[in-house]
Amino acid sequence: MIDQSTVQRILDAAEIVDVVGEFVTLKRRGTTMIGLCPFHNEKTPSFNVSPAKGIYKCFGCGKGGSSVNFVMEHEHLSYTEALKWLAKKYHIEVREKEESPEDIRERNDRESQMIVSEFARQFFQQQLWESDQGRLIGLSYFRERGFRDDIIKKFGLGFCPDGKDVFTVAAQKEGYKMEFLEKTGLTIKRDDWVRDRFAGRVMFPITSISGRVIAFGGRTLSQDKTIAKYLNSPESEIYHKSRVLYGIYEAKRAIIQEDSCYLVEGYTDVISMHQAGIENVVASSGTSLTTDQIRLIRRFTNNVTILYDGDQAGIKASLRGIDMVLEQGINVKVLLLPDGEDPDSFSRSMGASELKAYIKQRETDFIKFKTNLLLAGTENDPLARARLIGDIVGSISVIPDEIVQTEYLKECSRLLDVREEVLYSELRKLKLKSDEEKLKREEREAGQQQLQDLEQPKLQPQVVLPEKNPCAVEEREILRILFKYGKMRMAEIADENSGSVVAIIVDEYVLGELSADPMHSTDPIVAAIFDEYGQQFRNEGFDAVRHFVYHPNPQISKMVSDILSEKYSSSPFWKARGSHVEEEQDLLYYLVPKILQEYKLRYVKYLSNQILEKMKNIPGDNLEEFFALQGQFQKLKSVEGILSERLGKRTINH
Ligand code: CTP
Ligand code: MN
Repeated sequence: MIDQSTVQRILDAAEIVDVVGEFVTLKRRGTTMIGLCPFHNEKTPSFNVSPAKGIYKCFGCGKGGSSVNFVMEHEHLSYTEALKWLAKKYHIEVREKEESPEDIRERNDRESQMIVSEFARQFFQQQLWESDQGRLIGLSYFRERGFRDDIIKKFGLGFCPDGKDVFTVAAQKEGYKMEFLEKTGLTIKRDDWVRDRFAGRVMFPITSISGRVIAFGGRTLSQDKTIAKYLNSPESEIYHKSRVLYGIYEAKRAIIQEDSCYLVEGYTDVISMHQAGIENVVASSGTSLTTDQIRLIRRFTNNVTILYDGDQAGIKASLRGIDMVLEQGINVKVLLLPDGEDPDSFSRSMGASELKAYIKQRETDFIKFKTNLLLAGTENDPLARARLIGDIVGSISVIPDEIVQTEYLKECSRLLDVREEVLYSELRKLKLKSDEEKLKREEREAGQQQLQDLEQPKLQPQVVLPEKNPCAVEEREILRILFKYGKMRMAEIADENSGSVVAIIVDEYVLGELSADPMHSTDPIVAAIFDEYGQQFRNEGFDAVRHFVYHPNPQISKMVSDILSEKYSSSPFWKARGSHVEEEQDLLYYLVPKILQEYKLRYVKYLSNQILEKMKNIPGDNLEEFFALQGQFQKLKSVEGILSERLGKRTINH
């Protein structure tokens, strides 16, 4: 457990814009910041961050909460883990008891795998810099490749000693369990033997977007062509190859600054470009480029330049990459290096500024790229030209934004000297075809779903869901008032005996009124909030917004953040009287009692309906029960009448 004062320090430090900004590019819009939601796939930003309220809210997918919730959601952590994560970010010391091997075992799997991976990084680094073998073989290899020491350190490069299980033995001696060594793939275990996966290789740690080690790439130093040059960690609970980009942690700041990102093929390309002073660069190492990886880039920029080797494989990969990137609504440029050169070798052949200039000069948009590539030497062949046009329009057709499509069609028309109308009709044809395919696919999937439904009768839900909360609107409104105006005066009344004036404070009034009647929200979360509010609001220094926004129960903090970030802060109730939001706080004396009456009325109606339902279901011979209920019903009806009258609503009593 983390002690309360440390929690406070962490919360004080964890400024929402700073925390979210680590993962999402935010732009100021009025009093809030907006960006692309990291929790769902979107192309226009609906993800809002309010620095004043300390919360985020996505109006697209509904996710929202405090900086702690954000870290929980984004990094898949528990509340306590998220606090520790933030503590680390802000260099706040969290005092906890020393970890025994016992404790290590108790941690959850993911965390254990990350911890063992972090240990491995340190171990491999230590071997590289401090052991004879590491220095002689590993370090001298990197230096011979031209990597500077500071760059080797920046990327945490290391060396795994040769042998059967040097690393595994060392890890186990430190208390790391075989289970996690195996799950991360660092150790390969069969029934009767174990060995290090990466023995004798130089090591490239692969980190998550927040910089935690989740996997490794290891390069062999052997010339033997039958040995795989690179070995990578296998898929695991912490490493999903297709969602990871090598270098993203080191690159993200530069990607935002430059508003562009270079996409290269391998570890060494990323590292050499950094060394040459170009830091907005990532690689999809260990796998060919995936859609998830492109989406990861899109959180930071809309501009990607593909920078691949000019050999056949590089060309093929570029062509494939272009359409994938375009499909995600990202602008794509391409630069193929001379055949046989990769960004690593190439950047070593010239200085940093020379390299930058070279790239700027040579990178071309995908239309020019395809034209140069596919038309080379066949300029006068009409068939080749037709194929090229079809190919380019095909790429344009996957762009989601029609305005961008139009721009590219114009460019294509100019470059290839084809009339725009021809290109448009080509585009329409392709669209029709893909729409048809989509429809067919959907029908097929729907058909399969129906089949499944037929085959598997729906299981009875295990839990009986509570009925929809009948008072949800009123309750949210009351909470909103409490959070917004809780400590304000809503009225002053003269005490008749003493003649002095007494102020009525909003929270005193609201919570007094609520506790005067035996009402319990049917929503357990709302009930819990009212409950805690009532217990705590008199405590000195109680800050309701803060208390609930940072509440350890994520359902509570989510609901409160939702209420605080409601798009329209004035409720339908206020509008009825034609007042404006600005006037709200001047009208509290009127509005607060009114909403409470509305709430009570709604609640009483709900109770009387429930009684009515019960009465319907009573067996005919149980008159006693029936009359008891009828008595209750009539009482409620008269309360309803009184409340309605106070609210100026007419009801017919009977
Ligand atoms: N790669 C891999 N497995 C292999 C070969 C390659 O995962 N067996 C990945 C690595 O991420 C590598 C990238 O593909 O960095 C590009 O491969 P290649 O061009 O062969 O390697 P380089 O990065 O050029 O490595 P080096 O310069 O050390 O030979
Ligand atoms: Mn290379």
